[in-house]
Amino acid sequence: MDFSFLDIGPDDPIVILTGAGISRESGLDTFRDPDGIWARHDLEEVATPEGFARDPKLVHAFYNARRRGLLDPVIQPNAAHRALARLEREWPGGTMLVTQNIDDLHGRAGSRPVHMHGELLKARCGRCEVVTPCEGDLSPEDRCAACGQTGGMRPDVVWFGEMPMHLDRIYPALGECGLFLSIGTSGTVYPAAGFVQEASVAGRALAVELNLEPSVGATLFDHAFTGPATALVPAFVDALLARR
Ligand code: APR
Repeated sequence: MDFSFLDIGPDDPIVILTGAGISRESGLDTFRDPDGIWARHDLEEVATPEGFARDPKLVHAFYNARRRGLLDPVIQPNAAHRALARLEREWPGGTMLVTQNIDDLHGRAGSRPVHMHGELLKARCGRCEVVTPCEGDLSPEDRCAACGQTGGMRPDVVWFGEMPMHLDRIYPALGECGLFLSIGTSGTVYPAAGFVQEASVAGRALAVELNLEPSVGATLFDHAFTGPATALVPAFVDALLARR
């Protein structure tokens, strides 16, 4: 791969956006691939506030199964997660890693991700809003450790129709960065799908996409490379760090 177009300086901040594709080679399913999660589950039923109000047991069962799957020891960060953690450690200009993923693989690889769609291993009380770690199953009968009320515990994740988290930090970073790097996302869900324009039109960033196949928004990027994340991301990080 020829990354010679990279003309950012070591003082330029970098914003990285990741999606489910970066965790695919760790063994976690994506959403919109033919074998993806939304091919097997109705997102209206399991990933909306209305679905949770209608059938909390079904929603808890969906996230409990994903939480158990994530905690299987076979699921580990891959070379792409590790390469991004290295970039965060070594890039002089500073980085912000924004992930749409609710898995903890970036964190386990050593990154400090901004989880804009929340985290599978956290629970939130719908009554008092207190967030607590969660590695077991959740149920409607669970009592909140903070307020003692039952019936309100939910995964601390963002459902369709809810406001993503940390946008107050993300948008300023998009406007100031010199490189916007999008990895493993189909570019179909907003506001994340619009970040490339925030960075490269409203901002001054060079925009690069690394994805198994061109995303919906691939033409919005200055450069787009196709291939598996574990091949593209380490090579791209090496090319960036060679510019220090
Ligand atoms: N390497 C790189 N990219 C990959 C790989 C891989 N090994 N495998 C799949 N991909 C790509 C797919 O080609 C696809 O473009 O990852 C992308 C995954 O797209 P989606 O399944 O739509 O996942 P994502 O973009 O993260 O979804 C965004 O939608 O359902 C909501 O909240 C959910 O955060 C999620 C959001």
